[in-house]
Amino acid sequence: MSERMSPTPDPSPLVFAHRGSSAALPEHTLGAYARALREGADGIECDVRLTRDGHLVCVHDRRLDRVSDGRGPVAAYTLAQLRALDFGSWHPSGQPAGVLTLEELLDTARQAGRPVRMLIETKHPNRYGKAVEYRLRAVLNRHGLTSTSAAAPVRVTVMSFSPLAVRRSRELLPSLPTVQLMDLLPPGLRIRRLPFGTRIAGPGLELVRRRPDLVRRLKAGGQQVYVWTVNATDDVDLLLKLGVDGIITDRPAEVLAHLGR
Ligand code: G3P
Ligand code: CA
Repeated sequence: MSERMSPTPDPSPLVFAHRGSSAALPEHTLGAYARALREGADGIECDVRLTRDGHLVCVHDRRLDRVSDGRGPVAAYTLAQLRALDFGSWHPSGQPAGVLTLEELLDTARQAGRPVRMLIETKHPNRYGKAVEYRLRAVLNRHGLTSTSAAAPVRVTVMSFSPLAVRRSRELLPSLPTVQLMDLLPPGLRIRRLPFGTRIAGPGLELVRRRPDLVRRLKAGGQQVYVWTVNATDDVDLLLKLGVDGIITDRPAEVLAHLGR
């Protein structure tokens, strides 16, 4: 059979659970992450923010209002104060849940019984100088996760929309891969290589739908591409055609089933 007739199929993209299995259960809760790991997600995604007393907690929004019974900015609360709040009952599943720290999530991932990838997104890190990245390094150091190897129980990748924050992560955690997230077209669309030695681009699905050539260009430049947030099977099919390397979804079980895994 000729080479032309038997092309090497692209490997199946990695499937990451966005904020856990967050369509089924409240985002960034232990339940949502445990479910994603049970469903067989290759990895989990989480957003981290600093509390007033310097802990990293897994919360997406700057304010507590949407996802808890608290009010105001996460950064105005100590961890002990956040522990008094309910981060689950707002969700249609109606299950109460406590705030999740990054340390607790790392412990959960480590206990999965198989290697787990973890995408950690630093949220609005430029408000705090280097504090978010320093704290992240301290936490990862404590868990022995500042370098990545196929044998590691948890393989961490750091992501940000802020190129400055990505650069800081590369400086402070040079052994960890980084993702440059993007929701807008990079200037001139000439991008083939990402700055600061980052090898993974993280465009949003809307951007990819509008400009699939962006993915082709990045791939031609040797970059990997992880796309967020992908919940419909039509979109999974589009991304398979484009040969993306990672799919970040609120519905890992459905995406995995569509991929035949
Ligand atoms: O995985 C990247 C994606 O999470 C970025 O958007 O707003 O959901 O954090 P957002
Ligand atoms: Ca995120």
